[in-house]
Amino acid sequence: MSDEALGLDEAYSVQSPDDNRRLYAKWAATYESSFVDAKQYRYPKAIAEVFNDEVDAVTRVLDIGTGTGLTGMYVSRLRPGLVIDGMDISPEMLAQARLKTRADASAVYRELYVRDLTESVENENKPYEALFSSGTFTHGHLGPQSLRNLLPLLANNGWLIVGVNNEHFEAKGFAEELDLLVALGAIKTPIIKRIDVYEPGSVHYGDQARVIITRVII
Ligand SMILES: C[S@@+](CC[C@H](N)C(=O)[O-])C[C@H]1O[C@@H](n2cnc3c(N)ncnc32)[C@H](O)[C@@H]1O
Repeated sequence: MSDEALGLDEAYSVQSPDDNRRLYAKWAATYESSFVDAKQYRYPKAIAEVFNDEVDAVTRVLDIGTGTGLTGMYVSRLRPGLVIDGMDISPEMLAQARLKTRADASAVYRELYVRDLTESVENENKPYEALFSSGTFTHGHLGPQSLRNLLPLLANNGWLIVGVNNEHFEAKGFAEELDLLVALGAIKTPIIKRIDVYEPGSVHYGDQARVIITRVII
């Protein structure tokens, strides 16, 4: 299959972390031209806007499932002084993210880490004040159980701004997992927003994602 042929069908048919490693190794170089630009995918921009609307003054944040770095890039435009690190399972996608620049031509990301977020994650840094994620909590990628792997990455009161594919949210029981985390005293009661994933005019226009907005309690 050519890289140009890669798209949502392939992305939604992965099942394991190894499938994800293989898919994104092949797709990294053309992910933006063949998918983001071609399909008018606005998810990274939408998550950056929710982050900017919801999160108060913070200085160090983490992009979960960084991919080619579009979400961090949009966040850096809205919050120019912010230190942004990223984690993703794919070194090839992170190699693309490393090239992303801010309005002042400096790198968007301070550090990028290859991490499998289906497992508990090693963090070399102080806990972050906030994390955000677009497009990574979806079919065959990260499920509701992976939310627990994110919590230790945050300081007390740290923000989670996590986009979840709409059907995946329903099918995998994200609401139930969030209720459990609230009952365990691990997070505050979340707000769930809906965002458009594609621009008007896209063949996929109308597809929406939920955005989980909550804060961790340590
Ligand atoms: C659809 S892309 C989204 C990238 C970017 N956030 C965006 O919106 O353009 C999904 C990303 O999830 C990453 N991913 C998939 N499984 C993962 C896992 N188990 N741990 C960490 N990242 C994973 C992939 O490598 C890929 O970069």
